[in-house]
Amino acid sequence: MDNSDLFWVSIVCCFFLNLINNNGVEASHKVFPEFQSLKASKVSQQHRTGYHFQPPKHWINGPMYFNGVYHLFYQYNPKGAVWGNIVWAHSVSTDLINWVPLNPAIYPTKPFDINGCWSGSVTILPGNKPIILYTGIDTQNRQVQNFAVPKNLSDPYLKEWIKPDINPLMVPANGMNASLFRDPTTGWRGKDGRWRVLVGNKRRNRGMALLYRSRDFVHWTKAQHPLHSSAKTGMWECPDFFPVQLKGESGLDTSVMGDHVKHVLKVSLDSTRFEYYTLGHYLPEKDRYVPDNTSADDATGLRYDYGNFYASKTFFDAGKDRRILWGWANESDTPKDDVAKGWAGIQTIPRMVWLDKSEKQLVQWPIEELEKLRGNEVHLKEVELMKGSLVEVRGITAAQADVEVTFHFSNLDKAEPFDPTWVDAQQLCGQKRSTDHGGIGPFGLLTLASDNLNEYTPVFFRIFKAQDKHVVLMCSDASSFISSSNLILVWHQNSSSLKKEMYKPSFGGFVDVDLSEGKLSLRSLIDHSVVESFGAEGKTCITSRVYPSLALGDDARLYAFNNGTEPVRILNLKAWSLGSPRMN
Ligand SMILES: *[C@@H]1O[C@H](CO)[C@@H](O)[C@H](O)[C@H]1NC(C)=O
Ligand SMILES: *[C@@H]1O[C@H](CO)[C@@H](O)[C@H](O)[C@H]1NC(C)=O
Ligand SMILES: *[C@@H]1O[C@H](CO)[C@@H](O)[C@H](O)[C@H]1NC(C)=O
Ligand SMILES: *[C@@H]1O[C@H](CO)[C@@H](O)[C@H](O)[C@H]1NC(C)=O
Ligand SMILES: *[C@@H]1O[C@H](CO)[C@@H](O)[C@H](O)[C@H]1NC(C)=O
Ligand SMILES: *[C@@H]1O[C@H](CO)[C@@H](O)[C@H](O)[C@H]1NC(C)=O
Repeated sequence: MDNSDLFWVSIVCCFFLNLINNNGVEASHKVFPEFQSLKASKVSQQHRTGYHFQPPKHWINGPMYFNGVYHLFYQYNPKGAVWGNIVWAHSVSTDLINWVPLNPAIYPTKPFDINGCWSGSVTILPGNKPIILYTGIDTQNRQVQNFAVPKNLSDPYLKEWIKPDINPLMVPANGMNASLFRDPTTGWRGKDGRWRVLVGNKRRNRGMALLYRSRDFVHWTKAQHPLHSSAKTGMWECPDFFPVQLKGESGLDTSVMGDHVKHVLKVSLDSTRFEYYTLGHYLPEKDRYVPDNTSADDATGLRYDYGNFYASKTFFDAGKDRRILWGWANESDTPKDDVAKGWAGIQTIPRMVWLDKSEKQLVQWPIEELEKLRGNEVHLKEVELMKGSLVEVRGITAAQADVEVTFHFSNLDKAEPFDPTWVDAQQLCGQKRSTDHGGIGPFGLLTLASDNLNEYTPVFFRIFKAQDKHVVLMCSDASSFISSSNLILVWHQNSSSLKKEMYKPSFGGFVDVDLSEGKLSLRSLIDHSVVESFGAEGKTCITSRVYPSLALGDDARLYAFNNGTEPVRILNLKAWSLGSPRMN
């Protein structure tokens, strides 16, 4: 592929959800037919985010891509705030932060997509020609793969797309379950000139990425074997397959291969609603992917994000030579709440993604463009946090902020012993909370806190001593809302079921970081109902959705805290109020 004038980058579209069979709607995920087409009469601003991607109202999930202009195509319900009536909505941006809405790019009109236009990806063909592959739900409720091309390539916004009648391009093969065949990836081209794409699938309980090949991107042949599969992982949604350089932070076009790269295969697991990825090698002559043995190739594997994060996709941003990752952060409240709010679902802040020096994991960092929104700044230096310390960070809008902090500890002798049976970080965060005193930690930030601390979302670290190394745990604990949900219960006394159904996990991940300098850093992006955190400069990331009832707007507070027996020092803390960009 000729990259020289390549503005277009891959796209995305991640879908997520639900299957239809001959008996009607059959979802792996809950479907709420009664709400699907219930137009929002008003849009609640209360927990609406200030700088995360959101449409003006209704349900969203999904994705994106670029051309000197960035395009985000996302799965959208134009008629209601729960999943249903899905079309490819379309917004454009020149900085990935300010967004202008356009009309939907793809919506059901043809026999091959009349029952739905689900997720897919964009590939840029030679001559700088973007092409979309997407999953259509056809007249027989089968999942089939279709393509669409811009109606007018000279239109800088590519407002209109054509779905040629030669569609569908790929139909479920003989014996394949037609409800388990979706989410085509961005294509890559081999030395033989043929294009390849992956499609998510499952056979018995083995999740797999089916491989298709084509010379012209229109006529596709299924390879005998999948690119990769893994037993007992269930249906693979939104597969993503791309190269990363061994050295440096620059991104690569999806077709790059060779000794200087590793490949990443990420899948979204429909059965757990979490994603995992492996690093490994792509063997072009066999068209197979072989994961490294440094992390698990199943639901216990590495995650981009250990919180509310799904249906993610990356694309190569040729304008800035970087690979960018987006994920969808769903709501943690109930569909009823979503109908009342008039909206549901946001995109996380786009993140640059590259290979860590260890070559065992990826690293992520919010795109630099976000920093344009930084306003008022406060700075703390050399603040000692004794056991029980709570230091307020004043002078910023704590409900809409960006905070970066580096902690220092002088020695790790008092670290709690680590029990090797603790393999599940989320479970451990549920047992060892910000209120449970440890040796080194818990220390970190209390975000979206109310004055009286009835409400807060702590994001913190805890350091343990294992046999031959230290283990760092990072938690983002929405469950500290127990007291606040009592308040919600009072406030919404006529819908107490809200409280029971509210999803308040103590998300957690381990952080594989070198502690020899006695330092650990944390960055959190706080935006009313979301806290997106990056531990150890992006090695472990966690996104939590939370719905304070007191820590709202100007009443929200931000603190640094330490609840370990050993003192921890804030070397440096910078926090900024963040402005609100144009958002659709
Ligand atoms: C294509 O888009 C260009 C740029 O917006 C416009 O000038 C031209 O008239 C369009 N062509 C058609 C056939 O609509
Ligand atoms: C096909 O997959 C769907 C979704 O998992 C499932 O409900 C259905 O039973 C499957 N059909 C067959 C014939 O296995
Ligand atoms: C992992 O693979 C490397 C070679 O790539 C090998 O040297 C090592 O022994 C393997 N480790 C395990 C635990 O299998
Ligand atoms: C979304 O939210 C619900 C809780 O409301 C949760 O149980 C579900 O697993 C979440 N994630 C996804 C990817 O749907
Ligand atoms: C620290 O621990 C005390 C006692 O367990 C608790 O009351 C306090 O809320 C904790 N601080 C944080 C930030 O959790
Ligand atoms: C709950 O219902 C009662 C009686 O219908 C009503 O008086 C009250 O205002 C309602 N409370 C809320 C919070 O809506």
